[in-house]
Amino acid sequence: MHSFISHSSDLPAGTRFDWPSDGIAFGGDYNPEQWPEEVWREDVELMRRAGVTTVTVGVFSWGLLEVADGVYEWDRMDRVLDLLHANGIGVDLATPTAAPPVWLLQAHPEIAPVTETGVRYAQGGRLGWHPSSAVFRRYALRMVRALAERYGTHPAVRMWHVGNELGNENHRSYDPETAAAWRVWLERRYGDVETVNAAWGTEFWGHRVGSFAEIEPPRFSSTAHNPGLALDFARFTSDALLAHYEAERAVLREVTPRLPITTNFMVMNNPGTDDYARWAEEVDIVANDHYTIGSDPLRHRELSFSADRVRGMAGGRPWLLMEHSTSAVNWQSVNRAKSPGEMTRNSLAHVARGADGVLFFQWRASTAGAEQFHSGMVPHAGAETRQFREVTELGATLRALAEVQGSTVPRARVAILFDTEAAWAYTAARTPSDLVRIVDLPRAVHEALSARHIAVDVIRPQDDLTGYDVVVVPTLYLARDADAAKLAAHTASGAHVVVSYLSGVVDEHNRVRPGGYPGAFRELLGVHAEEFVPLFADESVALDDGSTATLWTERLVVTDAEVLARYADGDLAGLPALTRRTVGAGTASYLSARIDADALARLVQDLVERAGIAPIARADAGLEITRRVGADASYLFAINHDGEDRAVDTSGVDLVSGRAVAGRLVVPAGGVAVVREGANA
Ligand code: GLA
Repeated sequence: MHSFISHSSDLPAGTRFDWPSDGIAFGGDYNPEQWPEEVWREDVELMRRAGVTTVTVGVFSWGLLEVADGVYEWDRMDRVLDLLHANGIGVDLATPTAAPPVWLLQAHPEIAPVTETGVRYAQGGRLGWHPSSAVFRRYALRMVRALAERYGTHPAVRMWHVGNELGNENHRSYDPETAAAWRVWLERRYGDVETVNAAWGTEFWGHRVGSFAEIEPPRFSSTAHNPGLALDFARFTSDALLAHYEAERAVLREVTPRLPITTNFMVMNNPGTDDYARWAEEVDIVANDHYTIGSDPLRHRELSFSADRVRGMAGGRPWLLMEHSTSAVNWQSVNRAKSPGEMTRNSLAHVARGADGVLFFQWRASTAGAEQFHSGMVPHAGAETRQFREVTELGATLRALAEVQGSTVPRARVAILFDTEAAWAYTAARTPSDLVRIVDLPRAVHEALSARHIAVDVIRPQDDLTGYDVVVVPTLYLARDADAAKLAAHTASGAHVVVSYLSGVVDEHNRVRPGGYPGAFRELLGVHAEEFVPLFADESVALDDGSTATLWTERLVVTDAEVLARYADGDLAGLPALTRRTVGAGTASYLSARIDADALARLVQDLVERAGIAPIARADAGLEITRRVGADASYLFAINHDGEDRAVDTSGVDLVSGRAVAGRLVVPAGGVAVVREGANA
């Protein structure tokens, strides 16, 4: 079993834990309480057949463990853990606090979140608590302590899983207790109320407050709330949820100092409701849940982008894919089954980007409850199915990749800057176009690079830029002064930087930086936009380099930059669209329009060539290529997302097929390969 260094700031630097499995962790959420005990015996038999190493147990089981206030029933959990241990399966034990028991909600309805329109959540769902509830905290920590004392030394238990997707169903609450906590948070952040007034610009509509007591959460009102207030409320909520995690962590740490602790993030195709890059500093292992959107034809690319975001949060270290699905989910409008091979490609793509675990929600598809039609590793139809056969094959593939565990994806030379706070700032305001979604351009840039097999990291603007010869700043709406200054210095030292529209528009208080957009980067770029000119859904504008812009254009003024392309028609005809300025040893380009995919690809390719960055390997389009490097070997991942066979130049041994590769490997349509590289590998 490998050891790893913890991420968590509550521990001395360099604290090590054992990785929860031998080799790559494989398994999923296991909810045996939904089944009679004879099914459990079949479960472990099938788990062994599939090569399951790790299961997450107890996620929503509070109401079954604490059956009445202070009355615990452990028998079933005892038997489950003993059975798993007897079968060599490790347990990621969840604190069951994600779903409060019915008796607690009945006795204390005030623990439930309140919507912005003032409606208290009723019982019947999950995450029916808000993190500012003192009563909830007291009950939750008592439960956590009881669980940790009972099972902290059980030999099956390898790690702790705090709650579940904190902030998913309970990502905002507008109840009076939350309002009080929000005021305390504001006082701590700003010191006095005049500073709050100044930061938010409460002169507007005469919204000046005379004391912290007069500040309310952004409840339902006649129109939009102040963008500074709304951004701070998002920050506060993320902090309040993190504080709950930290409170549970403190109990677990005290009782079981040798077990690693995590909670599952939700880094997917959205900006996110929690500031996970910040949360990553508080977990021992970064763990993520990822679900593809079946209707998105480029969902595998979204997956790669999300996985790279997670690796960025993990500081490049191995992380855990805590949940994904074997096939359909049950919360999209059409819950499309995954195609044959798609689950395996999805799983391997996470491993290719640094995951050392592939877990699913859930082991066995439920027959009762709200997630009846969600796929499982064992579907309703049982084990003699395509789905379970593919699960078993995946288990075998991951066993063959055991040696990959502990290797890492080397730091790339290209970085995309992405910041959750910046995304919140954009969604907290009424912005010039609802058609522009803040993850779209970062994702498109990531796609353009990945399609050319260029390694890329997705990091925060606050992170260290050393070694990034190309830095892309796509729709980074909010930029702090210090980060803008750092980017300028980095450019001058030789980096090639491209900044897009809707970047650096506001400061950390969500106030527009005056003097022209993109305020924070204006000087670096030698341009400013006088006016945003967003386009309607069916509009497009030609540029004189042959490309086409949709969704977004700007009236741009050049003060000190070379014009690379101009608008060719429409209101902006003849005005600059794309510029570049030489800055010291580097260059700073500005993209004022949402250009088509080919033009975007040419733009990034040009920067990559200027910086002399080579692809990870020479490979056909349609292959997803990454490399992980370990102490003794490097591993080339090739995932074929195409309907045709595709080739990559490499030599070594394909660990998936066991075959030697000399010079060139053909990956069959829809197939995967992981080559331990080297002539004698
Ligand atoms: C989330 C939750 C799981 C389950 C899945 C369904 O990831 O953590 O409990 O509800 O969604 O996709």
